[in-house]
Amino acid sequence: MRFDTVIKNGTVVTASDTFASDVGITDGRIAAIADSLPTENAGKVIDATGLLVMPGGVDVHTHLDMPFQGTTSSDDFETGTIAAAYGGTTTLIDFAVQTKGSPLRKAFDTWMGKADRKAAIDYAFHCVITELGDKQFEEMGGLIRDGVSSFKLFMAYPGLLMVDDATIFRAMQQTAKFGGMICMHAENGGVIDVIVQRALAEGKRAPKYHALTRPTTAEGEATGRAIALAEMAGASVYIVHLSCNDALEKVREARDRGLPAYAETCPQYLFLSIEKMEAPGFESAKYVFTPPLREKWNQEKLWQGLTRDTLQVVSTDHCPFCYKEQKEMGKDDFTKIPNGGPGIEHRLSLIYTGGVHGGWFSPNRFVQLVSTAPAKLFGLYPRKGTIAVGSDADIVIFDPNEEQTISAATHHMRIDYSMFEGIRIKGVPKTVLSRGRVIVENGKFVGRAGSGEFIKRQALTHVAR
Ligand code: URP
Ligand code: ZN
Ligand code: ZN
Repeated sequence: MRFDTVIKNGTVVTASDTFASDVGITDGRIAAIADSLPTENAGKVIDATGLLVMPGGVDVHTHLDMPFQGTTSSDDFETGTIAAAYGGTTTLIDFAVQTKGSPLRKAFDTWMGKADRKAAIDYAFHCVITELGDKQFEEMGGLIRDGVSSFKLFMAYPGLLMVDDATIFRAMQQTAKFGGMICMHAENGGVIDVIVQRALAEGKRAPKYHALTRPTTAEGEATGRAIALAEMAGASVYIVHLSCNDALEKVREARDRGLPAYAETCPQYLFLSIEKMEAPGFESAKYVFTPPLREKWNQEKLWQGLTRDTLQVVSTDHCPFCYKEQKEMGKDDFTKIPNGGPGIEHRLSLIYTGGVHGGWFSPNRFVQLVSTAPAKLFGLYPRKGTIAVGSDADIVIFDPNEEQTISAATHHMRIDYSMFEGIRIKGVPKTVLSRGRVIVENGKFVGRAGSGEFIKRQALTHVAR
């Protein structure tokens, strides 16, 4: 038996099992998992003694090279995917955004062009629907068949991205017909806009008013409405970037009733809270993203939600805008600060630190949340999201005990600040493989921009959830 690569002496951790084993890789796939594999003829041998061998991370919520609110997110598909690789993420799903009135296919083609010859890890796309005429409605089935098996809709950002309930309902019906998934940005954008206009009229223009004008009730209401619309349409719904207990409760109730309702949260809602908005001067603009940071007590509810499977996924909602020049666009008016924060690099380390070392869940649940569940929910499994014979050899070799401090001075994202500056992490990726190729070795990127491939995702009807 000859392998291209053998990972020796590691502890394999999947969503279900933990066991000491070697892993053999041939032609980019996992070819053998066994007690002791021969290494004499192997092209490469990686010693994983004392380390965890886990499936590469799957981040299903990123915004690379995205035009938004008068600027463009600062990481493109090269810098963003390299930063992701450093953090142990080997597949991401980004958002191809429809320009109002244009074909959905055009959005897909545009984002394929952005990723082509740039991405260093594998990638796929959700399609954001901003207007659903008859033509776009007819396009949806074809996109799902071509591997874009999920659509994102916005209940917020009126005039920009927000769609009405009828549009949501039609999109859900059509998605259900072809076996796709609806991703929902659930906040009541109409109500928030009224609150925002009143704040501006009262001269409240500092960044903290971004958070203070977006109540948790607006997220809870929209989450409940999204689930009700999905129930009427017979569709599956996935609530993105869930930030607070009001919304969590709606998902819990739906799941208790057996509805196919799913939700993700993001590290920023687990580690940061609204106190950050009290930072002096314009500093708090660094934390202007949507939904905003919440009162601290919500964090414990979110960790509980991850533990009890009310929340199935941790993604990043990576949408970086530099403090200088980009966030500064809103110096005199919080509504002009581009919404979004950087996070693609530290998801695995943060969730391992808070979730596993923090005593909330096992390493297996960790793998489930950052890799297996997102791969299953979005049609990538079993090619991605597990360590199994036949799966892509997307593997992160992880030191669960190494400690580091997160800082913009050392991170690899193309942005001039870190949301998590100074936070101590315990658990870091050492070596990362993408389809069998080592792309991070002892903490250094050794991959190649452009080696990532578009992954055509399966429709939900073919996916075991
Ligand atoms: O503030 C955020 N989250 N920006 C990215 C767009 C979105 O709503 O996901
Ligand atoms: Zn959103
Ligand atoms: Zn987002």
